[in-house]
Amino acid sequence: MRDRRSIREQNDPDAMACRALTRRDFVAGSLTIGAVSSCASAAALAQAVPLHCAPPTPVTVPTPFVPEISQPVRVRKSVFELNAQEISRLKAAYAALRRLYEEHPEDARGWYYQGLVHCWYCSGALNAIVGPEIHNGWYFLPWHRAYLHLHERILAALINDPTFSLPYWDWDTPGRNRFPPPYMDPADQTNPLFDPFRAIDASTRIPDNLTGPDVIKNVLGQATFGLFAGVGQGASGQRGAIERAPHGGVHLWVANPATLLPPQVNMGVLGTAAFDPVFFSHHANIDRLWTVWLNTTADPPHANPSEEAWLLQDFVFYDQRRQWTQILVDQVVDSEATLRYRYQPPSAQPAVAAAPAAAPAPPPRAAPARLASTMALEIATSPGGTALTPDPHTLRVAAPPAVQDRLRTLAATPQRRVILHIDGIQVPSDRGALVNVFLNRPDATTATPVSDPGFVGAIVEVPNTVTSAHGHQTTLSNVAFDITAKIASVPLPAGGELTVTLVPFQGGGARPAEISLRYRRIYIAAE
Ligand code: C2O
Repeated sequence: MRDRRSIREQNDPDAMACRALTRRDFVAGSLTIGAVSSCASAAALAQAVPLHCAPPTPVTVPTPFVPEISQPVRVRKSVFELNAQEISRLKAAYAALRRLYEEHPEDARGWYYQGLVHCWYCSGALNAIVGPEIHNGWYFLPWHRAYLHLHERILAALINDPTFSLPYWDWDTPGRNRFPPPYMDPADQTNPLFDPFRAIDASTRIPDNLTGPDVIKNVLGQATFGLFAGVGQGASGQRGAIERAPHGGVHLWVANPATLLPPQVNMGVLGTAAFDPVFFSHHANIDRLWTVWLNTTADPPHANPSEEAWLLQDFVFYDQRRQWTQILVDQVVDSEATLRYRYQPPSAQPAVAAAPAAAPAPPPRAAPARLASTMALEIATSPGGTALTPDPHTLRVAAPPAVQDRLRTLAATPQRRVILHIDGIQVPSDRGALVNVFLNRPDATTATPVSDPGFVGAIVEVPNTVTSAHGHQTTLSNVAFDITAKIASVPLPAGGELTVTLVPFQGGGARPAEISLRYRRIYIAAE
């Protein structure tokens, strides 16, 4: 394994100030939260983020993943519903994972390399060697599903219990918007599920503007996979609703619930998030909500993409036998059939009742990654980007009766959606951002709740890394909000002016002290 410490110290003299704090110390159990915050924080945090995330160099070409179709189906349960024996088994599995790293740091299955897998596929965390970016687009759900599956199989193999399954942290179930107890009880290094970088305690609650019923209803109500979970990749892609407020919001909350910003390792930064074992139960819930979304009744029925560019995309991981394994998106879409696990629904009443199972999916329709769209209304465009300030930012655009009629006609056309796009969102890789977006609510402030009829969704940016010393510039993404129902039901302004209001916020819904976010273009189009 590379000696990250020497690379770090040669390149960054600041880091030497905190030389004693290295990733190794975090593992060894000598570190407490106090020690983290007492060290010059930027340097300490920089030490905590690996510079190189590449997996051990494989000795073979990847072996194709073989679905284990003869295995019994394993059941993933809510972490709040595990019995004592299941909690001990979960702890034993992560203890074995950490022990493997201690005894064989070069083993790709150990705790440290498992965390690096996420960093490798998250292009912000290192300078040169990167896997494909799997955030901000349509690989977000299937990549994390494959990662969780192989992680689960590694844990199962380490404790020699093929029935082992990951739990899910159902922050969307009423009363469960709090940190799952097994992961912080006890809150010290004797608990293999503990991570010293969290800033939550048993009384901290996730605010409703991140995971509350209005947010979850909005996410599960998204009409297309693209709106729900993203489409395409990179500068031409679009980040989906589930990746934003519930997913990104929970990441930020675990590491820094007071303000959510600035970025804090581990969970609050994508490059380090998977070093915290709770990452996997957070993502198991995201994965479960994918299935819930597919089973939510809608017309047309919710469906996965049918494009080959999505289905035939492959990812590589080391599996439980340390085999370099290639797995296709197509091999994970039916998780019960090919990966042999399913979710036991939470016993508590969900805040948003899942509708009964939908009719069988229609035959796949060929559709380009980004649907052909009909331009309806240009709202703002600036090639260099417009910078937000911490105050609400309102854009006004004339919408005379003819434009309003056109929007209403488009909104009323079957199979068409009216979409508010915010494109070219640029955030420095070491900054996060949270921005609520409102339509025709020019007076919206941080006090305006997400239950407001004008709320359309949030922009949530999880930083990739913690310091610009890592040499990263900006994360670029696009987001889209379905405003079809709002155009159809909410009266458009009589004055003929349509407004889009962007409201930066931080934890507790307060105004942030600063924000570093630019956007290039805002427009409404029909798809
Ligand atoms: Cu790959 Cu929760 O992020």
